Amino acid sequence: MPSPLFTPLSLRDLTLPNRIVVSPMCQYSAEEGSANDWHLLHLGSLSVSGAGLLMIEATAVAPEGRITHGCLGLYSDANEAALARVVAACRRFGKTPLGIQLAHAGRKASATRPWEGIRALTPAEGAWPTIAPTALPLDDGWPAPRAISEAEIEALIDAFVATARRAARLGLDVLELHCAHGYLLHEFLSPIANRRDDEWGGNLENRLRLPLAVARAVREVWPSGRPLGARITGTDWLAGGFTVADAVMLARRLGEVGCDYVCVSSGGIIPKAPIPTAPGYQLELAQRVRRESGMKTRAVGLLAAPRQVEAVIASGQADMVAMARAFLDDPRWPWHAAEALGANAAYPPQYARSRRDLWPGAPLVRPDRDAAE
Ligand SMILES: Cc1cc2nc3c(=O)[nH]c(=O)nc-3n(C[C@H](O)[C@H](O)[C@H](O)COP(=O)(O)O)c2cc1C
Repeated sequence: MPSPLFTPLSLRDLTLPNRIVVSPMCQYSAEEGSANDWHLLHLGSLSVSGAGLLMIEATAVAPEGRITHGCLGLYSDANEAALARVVAACRRFGKTPLGIQLAHAGRKASATRPWEGIRALTPAEGAWPTIAPTALPLDDGWPAPRAISEAEIEALIDAFVATARRAARLGLDVLELHCAHGYLLHEFLSPIANRRDDEWGGNLENRLRLPLAVARAVREVWPSGRPLGARITGTDWLAGGFTVADAVMLARRLGEVGCDYVCVSSGGIIPKAPIPTAPGYQLELAQRVRRESGMKTRAVGLLAAPRQVEAVIASGQADMVAMARAFLDDPRWPWHAAEALGANAAYPPQYARSRRDLWPGAPLVRPDRDAAE
């Protein structure tokens, strides 16, 4: 039987060659929001990985929506030109379709890079004022964000639209809205961060309003043949927080406004939530969202062993699997998974001779990566 993991998936006019997705990963290495040689190396390498889709990191729709001074943005002509250079290199050598994740960091903005210790920037480090649905700080030691006005909400939607237009001009294949990990759209969804009493807060319908308004507006300018998706949170893992039943409703409603898939992640609305991390710990959330919403679903979170990832697709828990750390560890993950599963992944011709079955006289099987499962 052909490998379910290496079976193509069609989303609108785009066909992903397989179900393996390079999860969006902030690199904290941009300059004034613009990609540089690091992105050329990082994305260039992953674009020849044989993955079915390569997601570009969370990309801010406004300068103040960046998490750190090093976060990627797509709010200026300079940002667009810098990313165009990276995209051109990926297209020239790689076959993997390219997506981009649009984000606004909300009250988690104006922070240090993770390797500098995760905390709010000080004024001397160039801190900037942050925004959120409600003026509640993320945690002790974080400044209170400013609750945004209705007029600012309209401007925010416009910023997502303007960035989507730039992404369309860059010829990117997939657009994804970041509605998870405690960033601004998730802050509107979660009762933990959203205590508004206007039409943008309160009951679930009101808390869904902003992500749906952004999705609806972006869908209008994002080419109709290209897929639009969202990374959503499956749960806040907190009493009184966003629940998996809410996530099912969000996924359904996103489908109604023209989204083509959801990626189900979780956590992040506050730093100290009791998250039961273990291999595949978010799978049940993805499976429930998929089953009850009917949306195409991407699973993510502590998945790395080829046979386990294959089983996620084969058992119908999800339609795609995203991996982040496994790709940092092994940018050739799809080649090695294909080897383990008896399937084929795309190689650039320059590297085709690395395929074990083309090494005359050499051992055909690498130490089994699944042995420790
Ligand atoms: C270095 C790094 C950067 C990340 N940046 C993003 C990001 O830009 N957007 C996002 O939605 N998730 C981001 N994540 C989360 C991953 O996409 C993924 O959901 C998470 O790491 C769990 O998957 P994994 O166990 O395969 O690493 C990041 C993770 C890592 C390790």
